[in-house]
Amino acid sequence: MKSATLFSIPVVLHGIGVVAQVTKPANFVPEVKWQIDILNTLDTTKTLTPTDALVWDLDLFHLARHPEIIDFLRGKIPNVNIICYFNAGLAQPSDCDWDSTWQKPEFKGLLGKPYDPEQFTEELWVNIKNQTGIDLIKRRVRLAADLGCDGVDPDNIDGYTNDMNGENGTGWKTTPQDYVNFVTQLATQAHTLKTKRGFSLLIGQKNAPEIARNLTSVLDFAVLEDCKNLRNEASRAFCADFQGYITANKPVFSIEYPTSLRKQGAAQQCNTSGANTAQYTNSCAVDSAPTGGKYSNYKFSEILKIRDGPNDDPAAELNGCTQYCGAGQGKGVVVTAVNEDLDGDVCKSVPK
Ligand SMILES: *[C@@H]1O[C@H](CO)[C@@H](O)[C@H](O)[C@H]1NC(C)=O
Ligand SMILES: *[C@@H]1O[C@H](CO)[C@@H](O)[C@H](O)[C@H]1NC(C)=O
Ligand SMILES: *[C@@H]1O[C@H](CO)[C@@H](O)[C@H](O)[C@H]1NC(C)=O
Ligand SMILES: *[C@@H]1O[C@H](CO)[C@@H](O)[C@H](O)[C@H]1NC(C)=O
Repeated sequence: MKSATLFSIPVVLHGIGVVAQVTKPANFVPEVKWQIDILNTLDTTKTLTPTDALVWDLDLFHLARHPEIIDFLRGKIPNVNIICYFNAGLAQPSDCDWDSTWQKPEFKGLLGKPYDPEQFTEELWVNIKNQTGIDLIKRRVRLAADLGCDGVDPDNIDGYTNDMNGENGTGWKTTPQDYVNFVTQLATQAHTLKTKRGFSLLIGQKNAPEIARNLTSVLDFAVLEDCKNLRNEASRAFCADFQGYITANKPVFSIEYPTSLRKQGAAQQCNTSGANTAQYTNSCAVDSAPTGGKYSNYKFSEILKIRDGPNDDPAAELNGCTQYCGAGQGKGVVVTAVNEDLDGDVCKSVPK
């Protein structure tokens, strides 16, 4: 019996060895400065700013249309980490794989209900309970590695919130467990891929606080929106659920959306004076310890982005306008040059 027990040790070690060892750049750590623009395509004909942001979160399909952006960024910012955002939970006509994949007769049936049944009926929830559905999304991860991204930011991994209480909002009656399985599979795949810089392809958690504790050891960073809820609704604040990432030396990129960062009377435009005093203070207040309650953004990489429209309009704009919290009120506003005319250009590569 004893020898049998001893025998089991190499088996266990072998099991651990199968999980890919994740290697990452030394500067990919908590509090690293970042920028995100997934609304419009970066303009490589203009001066790049901010050049001290070491992590850039850009849209995968913008980069598939304009792969030269990757070399442009690497030329301006040595050791930049490029995170490629894609919609993991849904497919829509502007995606580079819409025609080649989702419109194929054999795959059409994997698309469920629309994300927004009133305004945009063509962005449809993928059946991530079906292995084929998962495998088709894995192709997007592979494209990211092929293009030269350092990581991926798969969005909309919280479809289960639409299916709670017996509802069927995605069309697939999903549970948190379904999405944990889905994202874990994407992570396993990402970690077996090598980036052009020789590290593991990193993968992050986008929101979905209900499954944060299940994914902290599986993923490499997090991207959060509105985790403070601007201190309006404590019950909906969820920053602290992601403190496990910080403890594990994984960065948490956090976005708050103050309405006053928008130039009044101008849709989507940046007020270069930054958010007003009250909103800046509420959004940027930093917890000095990880135990600060639901709002704890201790060591988060915190930025402000525009919330467009009036207070009750939830439209958030991840465009070039950013205010960096560390700089102080009225300061730290940067407008990264973008060119929206490029957003719909022909895809030079497609997920396959
Ligand atoms: C998953 O989707 C594929 C493609 O639509 C289909 O052929 C297959 O039967 C589905 N599998 C299950 C278990 O429903
Ligand atoms: C969810 O609703 C759709 C109708 O929109 C239906 O086709 C589908 O069968 C439902 N799914 C489940 C799992 O009940
Ligand atoms: C997530 O982890 C918690 C324990 O922290 C567990 O109770 C729960 O079942 C897990 N959920 C999923 C979806 O894996
Ligand atoms: C810009 O922000 C400043 C400070 O919050 C504010 O006083 C000013 O009215 C704003 N301007 C516009 C055009 O929104």
